[in-house]
Amino acid sequence: MGKVYVFDHPLIQHKLTMIRDKETGTKDFRELTDEVATLMAFEITRDLPLEEVTVQTPVCDAKAKVLAGKKLGIVPILRAGIGMVDGVLKLIPAAKVGHVGLYRDPETLQPVEYYVKLPSDVEERDFIVVDPMLATGGSAVEAINSLKKRGAKNIKFMCLIAAPEGVDAIKDAHPDVDIYIAALDEKLNEKGYIVPGLGDAGDRLFGTK
Ligand code: URA
Repeated sequence: MGKVYVFDHPLIQHKLTMIRDKETGTKDFRELTDEVATLMAFEITRDLPLEEVTVQTPVCDAKAKVLAGKKLGIVPILRAGIGMVDGVLKLIPAAKVGHVGLYRDPETLQPVEYYVKLPSDVEERDFIVVDPMLATGGSAVEAINSLKKRGAKNIKFMCLIAAPEGVDAIKDAHPDVDIYIAALDEKLNEKGYIVPGLGDAGDRLFGTK
């Protein structure tokens, strides 16, 4: 069963509180989301494999560790997921970036793919799917389906705020996927917003309404 990690680091929690504040404007919202994504990326990459090399310091040769060159991919779910990409890339700049776009079918209410573009070597990469809000989980489950259909084998999901419903939906559909969140909120309201949440992440990131 996939694990759920809630990052309770003080810097993440402090910045998340500022993100939640309805008085926080677009510029600050975007910068804070970027910063929290970087801090979360630091935690999420904790298990990256290392290999030993020899490095010449000014004093002598030393055995030291470098990343073993695991191939990574970041996949934002359009559109709000885009707000987390640069923050992750700051720590893993060599990662490739794919995109998944989904819309909700007005009749079935199910998410449907309208855009998927992934790195060509999907099968060799480990992926981090990013979206600030994990609400019902419908989009996250479908985005992970999209990656798996194309051969992705190792996927993590990362968001700022999750509702219990969304966490359960990913756990049920994709028990192999670990979930990384900054806060687990109380519930969804009748409009599908996370409570207390932060409102519409896409609108707040891009200044639309
Ligand atoms: N998407 C958002 O942007 N906010 C929510 O609260 C739920 C889904």
